[in-house]
Amino acid sequence: MIYCKTAEEIEKIRKSSLLVGSTLAEVAKHIAPGVKTIELDKIAETFIKDHGAHPAFLGYKVGSKTYQYSLCISVNAAVVHGLPSDYILTEGDIVSLDCGVLWDGYYGDSAYTFAVGEVSQEIQKLMQVTKECLNKAIAVSLPGNRVGDISFAVQNHAENNSYGVVRELVGHGVGKSLHEEPEVPNFGRRGIGPKLLEGMVIAIEPMINLGKRNVRELKDGWTIIAADNKPSAHYEHTIAIQNGKADILSSFEEIEKVLREKQSLVLN
Ligand code: MF3
Ligand code: CO
Repeated sequence: MIYCKTAEEIEKIRKSSLLVGSTLAEVAKHIAPGVKTIELDKIAETFIKDHGAHPAFLGYKVGSKTYQYSLCISVNAAVVHGLPSDYILTEGDIVSLDCGVLWDGYYGDSAYTFAVGEVSQEIQKLMQVTKECLNKAIAVSLPGNRVGDISFAVQNHAENNSYGVVRELVGHGVGKSLHEEPEVPNFGRRGIGPKLLEGMVIAIEPMINLGKRNVRELKDGWTIIAADNKPSAHYEHTIAIQNGKADILSSFEEIEKVLREKQSLVLN
């Protein structure tokens, strides 16, 4: 069942999604070599609660497992669902932060991949292309198009750059639940799948590997990691199909403002 949302519901999802962006921006200030990933999780949890919202992943149940953190923190070859830990971030790492909040009955979901200090050009390009995959997917998220158009846009751009497209995890509808129908795969054919309709709200989240697409799960029962141990990137926006276009409800603006400020500190 795909729920189409009213304009009022979409504004609530926007509020939650923007808080996710603000949370990731706050956390981004603290990403640096020497920082433990568990410290980043605590910053996110405090920030979300201070704003009167709930961290959506904290206590989230998948089958018989319960997630115990506010962020998924996936370093280097970890693709998604990495657990915050005593791991100390190191110059040259890439770290994907995925965050969800529940506010006023509605969820928002967004993710961003960060460089820790200076990263290799090859990793910079992976990050750039993965973000482009997300933007190309959003560009075809128009009423009357189909989920397959989104899937194709991601896969086509990633594979044109010889990257591996993770298939085991997908984007999803968002609303009163964190994960609703439809599934939004990052691979597929144009013109297939559910039709995009006014009021649909979906999270689009390309997970792109520098190497091959294959992944495995770590013994911690959560972390999904590239099987060839090469770096992976992940960006996610929550969007609404509204007034004939894709309305991006989450935002990277605050995050990227923080990144520009950090960069100017390095240069000065
Ligand atoms: N953030 C994931 C998504 O984008 C869901 C994480 S669920 C958790 O769909 F339990 F791992 F937190
Ligand atoms: Co998601």
